[in-house]
Amino acid sequence: MNLEVQDGRAAHLARRYSAVRAHSLALSAGWSAEDQQVQSMPDASPTKWHLAHTSWFFETLVLRPHAADYAVFDPEFAFLFNSYYEALGPRHPRPQRGLLTRPPLARVLAYRQHVDTAISDLLQAGEPDAACASMIELGVQHEQQHQELMLTDLMHAFWSQPTRPSLLDRASPIASRTERPPAADAWAEHPGGQWEIGHDGAGFCFDNERPRHRVWIEPFAIARDLVRNRDLQGFIDAGGYREPRWWLSDGWARVQTEGWVAPAYWLDEHEHAGMEFTEFGVQRRDPDRPVSQISFYEAEAFAAWAGARLPTEAEWELAASRGLLNDALDQRWQWTRSSYEPYPGYRPAAGAVGEYNGKFMVGQRVLRGGSIATPPGHARATYRNFFPPEARWQFSGLRLARDL
Ligand SMILES: [Fe+2]
Repeated sequence: MNLEVQDGRAAHLARRYSAVRAHSLALSAGWSAEDQQVQSMPDASPTKWHLAHTSWFFETLVLRPHAADYAVFDPEFAFLFNSYYEALGPRHPRPQRGLLTRPPLARVLAYRQHVDTAISDLLQAGEPDAACASMIELGVQHEQQHQELMLTDLMHAFWSQPTRPSLLDRASPIASRTERPPAADAWAEHPGGQWEIGHDGAGFCFDNERPRHRVWIEPFAIARDLVRNRDLQGFIDAGGYREPRWWLSDGWARVQTEGWVAPAYWLDEHEHAGMEFTEFGVQRRDPDRPVSQISFYEAEAFAAWAGARLPTEAEWELAASRGLLNDALDQRWQWTRSSYEPYPGYRPAAGAVGEYNGKFMVGQRVLRGGSIATPPGHARATYRNFFPPEARWQFSGLRLARDL
């Protein structure tokens, strides 16, 4: 996280904090208490847990160190709602978060209110110091990340039940984004050379976006558009999921063990031909819609079949920061060919927040961009998302690149 913050920021932080906290409740307002309880797989967490964990983050990293008279809401919550911070003590196992029928949703909502009041009091007491302000900003950005997970995690739970309910209704503010028609000039070309990538320090960024550093890039072309359902249908029709030559070895093993024949939320072709589970429930598959819910392995295999490749994260960032990409930040996360590594000179922050990003820099792939589930204004060209290569429950797709 960027620790540089300006003076005179208490009111600004208070407004941002309130808006983001309210958005979490607005997202979950249409879901029942039972919806908010369920955990459909080890990687996905219940909505109720997300609502509590994001509050625990503020309580633990802002209020306890920075609010003199803060009274902890419930001492048991540290064990229940710590996600992965070893420095902050033991925790309930992630795969068993769905077992937590206690505390009930009403008590989690009361916890949120308790924390909100304390943050409000803290910011009204005077200007926060730089350490406190930067931790509040981090907590807000952290909550936005969990808002995306609230959507993708519950969507997986809805996919996993027979009625396949709709996650959103058409009136939802995040449902109004429309996909654009295909670009006339399909490829943007770049001469390469020595460039810089990474965050330049103006405004917030996560620690994994820094330091900004030099990279050498060979001449490349990158697709202006995301790969669409119709393109992936071509891969399927050509036997792509049955043909090992397009697949990385680990990917081909997954195809066989998991029985992959299409993106994760395409319905069975024999029983429900042409249908896809979307954020609006089961819909006729729109050939123009960007492909979603695919793993890195499928993105790789599709690119190989298409005679192209995935972009590196440096190529992607260069192209995005120069305005060469359509739907860069708000449709689908885009798998890159880059593994998730520290940038040259990266140092995790001191203390517990040093565990925020750095310790996950092994065995994961970088995704760039943002998705329909990413809160507006949260993503940027330097943002680095990361997931294991087999992950399929995010709004993840791809765009192609090739050498020049
Ligand atoms: Fe978290």
